[in-house]
Amino acid sequence: MKTLWQLVRSSLGRKYLMAATGFLLFSFVVIHLAGNLKVFLGADDLNHYAHMLKHRAWALWGFRLGLLAIALVHVTCGLTLVLENRRARPHAYAQSHTIQAPLASLTMAISGLGLAAFLAFHLLHFTVQAGKFAEYAEMRSPIAAEPGIMQAIAPVEAGKTYPDVYAMVVQAFSTPWIAIVYFAGVGLLAFHLSHGLQSMFQTMGWRSDATRPGLMRLARIVALAVFLGMASVPAAVLFEWIR
Ligand code: HEM
Repeated sequence: MKTLWQLVRSSLGRKYLMAATGFLLFSFVVIHLAGNLKVFLGADDLNHYAHMLKHRAWALWGFRLGLLAIALVHVTCGLTLVLENRRARPHAYAQSHTIQAPLASLTMAISGLGLAAFLAFHLLHFTVQAGKFAEYAEMRSPIAAEPGIMQAIAPVEAGKTYPDVYAMVVQAFSTPWIAIVYFAGVGLLAFHLSHGLQSMFQTMGWRSDATRPGLMRLARIVALAVFLGMASVPAAVLFEWIR
């Protein structure tokens, strides 16, 4: 317990916590992206996958609370580091050679808060289905299940209806302003990821003069891949590649 407190109190400890929680959040993004791409396999595949995720309430809520705790540690450590950074260098912006580090951490804080705002919209939109999005709750359909891992974990029954996440996604992104909000949100995610991965490499001590260009390229390629993968879903609906 004492060691954990010491870790939280030291700025180096918080950098390690940022790297570890950032990596876990990044892993969630990759899994979520793989799930989203199921939209290209058709309604049954996506809807069965969504059913599997929500099949066991205890697992769903355990996962949600775990993710929330990880996100809170990441945001709290990030914001306290930025504030300490600014307090330690009140005149940083007047000195060109010290500009880079505080400016990078400030843009990370701003893009991170923007991402949190997008996430709040996203959860109200698809998970809570607040306000006019309540119409999604009425979208249900039967699922034609193939024998396989999803059917073994979360069986679906013939003749029963399940939430039609595919129809919800198509309905949502047929509205251009919603697709634009998502393009902006995943754009922020890509920006935050590209810088965040580079910081993580530095904290882990992997960044040297020799590895720096390669790691920088890797972070940018990963961020671009996440952007293109995430954005492909609203784009596919908007341009009627899927309907
Ligand atoms: C175009 C991009 C995205 C699409 C199409 C998308 C799609 C979805 C859908 C359909 C759900 C609801 C699943 C269901 O009700 O079964 C969902 C939930 C969720 N998404 Fe996304 N998402 C996108 C981007 C993101 C991003 C960038 C993040 C985080 C950085 C994110 C985080 C979440 C979270 C935390 C949930 C809630 C899971 C739960 O119910 O506990 N999503 N997303």
